[in-house]
Amino acid sequence: MEKAHTVRVGYYQFAPIFGCVSRNLGEVMNFLENIDADLVVLPELPFTGYGFSSREELFSLAEDPDDSGAVSDMVSLCMRRRLHIVTGFAERSGDKCFNSSLLLGPSGICGIYRKLHLFDREKTYFDPGNLPLKVIDIGGVRIGMMICFDWIFPEVARTLALQGADILCHPANLVLTYCQQTMLSRCIENLVYSVTANRTGCERHSFGDLDFTGTSQIVAPGGVIIHRGDSDNTEAYSVEINIDRARNKSITQRNDVLADRRSEYYLR
Ligand code: ACM
Repeated sequence: MEKAHTVRVGYYQFAPIFGCVSRNLGEVMNFLENIDADLVVLPELPFTGYGFSSREELFSLAEDPDDSGAVSDMVSLCMRRRLHIVTGFAERSGDKCFNSSLLLGPSGICGIYRKLHLFDREKTYFDPGNLPLKVIDIGGVRIGMMICFDWIFPEVARTLALQGADILCHPANLVLTYCQQTMLSRCIENLVYSVTANRTGCERHSFGDLDFTGTSQIVAPGGVIIHRGDSDNTEAYSVEINIDRARNKSITQRNDVLADRRSEYYLR
């Protein structure tokens, strides 16, 4: 019998403190030193925190990934531990700032995704993503990145699945409660794995309080919850998954969720 194609995936759920970049990075690095995994997903904006009061404040905290102490620390760790990391990142690029996620590995930055669907006040300070959705192969495992509110647009997960994604890596700072259930559908209709790494805790700002919902989860093709964390506590979790399960798209002998699409009848 052929050996199963397995990979150990995990996430870290925690409560970043807004604006305390080195403190938040320290907590993440401490966790990464100790996790037993091949691929780890971190929340959206885990170093800066989430609720910026202005574009100026965002620019003062955002970084160029090619010139970021946080990125070089994580890449060094990836080299030492033979690890890949998907992390949220406030990305400065010239006069633009994106709510991004980075795929990091022993060779450096393997990919950048810039959030396409900005949520609520994010529209007042971030620039909308301007890069196509793209699957990245890391040693035979195909990674698709999406960020938080992208969950409500099924096109995102579908586009990644059509490109062959095995795992949807989904950094999040969720304040609504519908996403986790919806991601089960994304995993049923595309027969992929998903790892949603959501943050916990509360941010108090002059424009209002933000309460984050935790409940990070890892879901298997078919929408089966492998693990779901609780809503409040810091948590590290990892599990071995079989990638071959995401390569078979048949639902019955005569149905394949990707090949059966009738795209000529769909709106663009
Ligand atoms: C969100 O997209 N951070 C809700």
